[in-house]
Amino acid sequence: MTGGEKAIAEHEQNKRGEMIAICGAKGGNGRTTLAVNLAVALAKKNSKNPTCILDADFQFGDVGLALDIHSTFTIKDVMDGIDTLDNLTLSSYLIRHNSGVKVLAAPERPEHADLVLPNGLDKVCDMLLSQHDYVIVDTPAGFSDKTLQIIEKADSVFMVTTLEIAAIKSTKLMLETLVLLGLREKVRVVVNRSTMDSMVKASDIPDFLGEDMPFYVPNDYDVVSQSLNNGIPFVLKNGKSEVSKEVCKIAEQLISRRQISVFKPKHASFIQSIIQRTIGGNTSFF
Ligand SMILES: Nc1ncnc2c1ncn2[C@@H]1O[C@H](COP(=O)(O)OP(=O)(O)O)[C@@H](O)[C@H]1O
Ligand SMILES: [Mg+2]
Repeated sequence: MTGGEKAIAEHEQNKRGEMIAICGAKGGNGRTTLAVNLAVALAKKNSKNPTCILDADFQFGDVGLALDIHSTFTIKDVMDGIDTLDNLTLSSYLIRHNSGVKVLAAPERPEHADLVLPNGLDKVCDMLLSQHDYVIVDTPAGFSDKTLQIIEKADSVFMVTTLEIAAIKSTKLMLETLVLLGLREKVRVVVNRSTMDSMVKASDIPDFLGEDMPFYVPNDYDVVSQSLNNGIPFVLKNGKSEVSKEVCKIAEQLISRRQISVFKPKHASFIQSIIQRTIGGNTSFF
């Protein structure tokens, strides 16, 4: 076995996927839109390595609607049998979208949200991470105990905001709270609808939010609302639209960052370290 083959085999054995939490201070900022389209973009570019979405908006989750899929099973069923849960049973509770993305749906009724308990949620995340390269988690607006648990566990957090004053004010507060909790480093701001008419310009966001390099996803009401209403992600149906291209760029950055971290040698030589730093400087975003 060559060194490269050995590294791949080792990686397959100790595989743990990457957990990406999609958060936001205000409802309607575009978290579900980003979660669904980013997951499908990752699946398209990375078809060998499965992607799943955990709909952690446990009261009013609408990932199933956004993908036009319906499941008889939700995370409520998973919680009912959590003590004896194994990988095979968990897989049978996931719904497969035709893009290859799998979804663990939110409960059908808001009153069932409380049945998702912290230990169970932790176990489900670990099991999903052992089976998928990317676990995208859509969350409800603001902080709740479960959203905080997810943010703590996530490898990366995308904080979605728009250019509306109220959204920026709340996002700033949320980011400040994450600084206090020591979790700010893994957060990257995503300015959604960045080309919308607003008193605040997209170029002001780095200063306002203390974020050097936010991602910008443009405003395209026709494409996005039609996509949500029809349940067909725009990265599939409107691949040439600007909004689609920007989401695909985010997916590409995630993929190249993961490739670098997975195949980074444990004991790099001096020259290898320099090469890694150079490549890492171009592609890592935190
Ligand atoms: N980039 C965008 N351009 C135009 N409209 C958008 C964009 N992203 C989201 N929207 C619209 O914003 C609304 C809320 O989106 P959604 O993803 O459901 O937000 P959240 O999950 O944060 O509540 C939807 O009606 C959607 O069409
Ligand atoms: Mg949502």
